[in-house]
Amino acid sequence: MSELHVFDHPLIQHKLSILRDKKTSVKEFRELIGEISMLMCYEATWDLPLEEIEIETPVAKAKVKRIAGKKLAVVPILRAGLGMVDGMVAMIPSCKVGHIGLYRDPETLEPVEYYCKLPTDIAERDVIVVDPMLATGGSAAAAVSFLKKHGCKNIKMMNIIGAPEGVETMQKLHPDVDIYVAALDDHLNDHGYIVPGLGDAGDRIFGTK
Ligand code: PRP
Ligand code: URA
Repeated sequence: MSELHVFDHPLIQHKLSILRDKKTSVKEFRELIGEISMLMCYEATWDLPLEEIEIETPVAKAKVKRIAGKKLAVVPILRAGLGMVDGMVAMIPSCKVGHIGLYRDPETLEPVEYYCKLPTDIAERDVIVVDPMLATGGSAAAAVSFLKKHGCKNIKMMNIIGAPEGVETMQKLHPDVDIYVAALDDHLNDHGYIVPGLGDAGDRIFGTK
């Protein structure tokens, strides 16, 4: 069974409280998504392996630790996942970025794929999939299935807000994928929106409503 990690760091929770507020502007919403992504990236990468190397400081030789050449990729689920990319790349500057375009059919809530572009060596990379919202889990599960079809073996799912329904779906369909959220909310409403949530993440990032 995959693990669910809920990041209750005070900085993340404070920023999330502003993100949820319907009075928060598009500009501030975007900035907050970026800042929360950075903080979540920090928290979700504690397991990166380190290697010891020797360098020379201006004063003496020193044994220091660096990340052990791990190949990483960040894969946003379009559209809203795009809002998280800059924050992730700021923390992992050498990562590659793939894109998976999915939207939820408003009637069936089923994910519909419309775009995909992945790094050619994606199968050799550890992947962090990013999307602010894990609602029914349909989009996340489809994105992970797609990545597995392309040979990915080590995948993490990072969402800012998750619903219990989405976590359950992911754990059932992808028990090998750990899930990282800043909050686990209460439930989904009749339109598949997370309650209390923050509304439509894509619309709030891009100002489309
Ligand atoms: C939102 C969100 C997720 C999906 C979550 O995207 O960004 O991708 O819904 O819902 P699910 O867990 O029920 O699949 P949306 O389909 O609204 O597309 P958008 O990002 O293009 O606005
Ligand atoms: N997608 C969103 O953007 N918000 C939700 O609450 C659910 C799905």
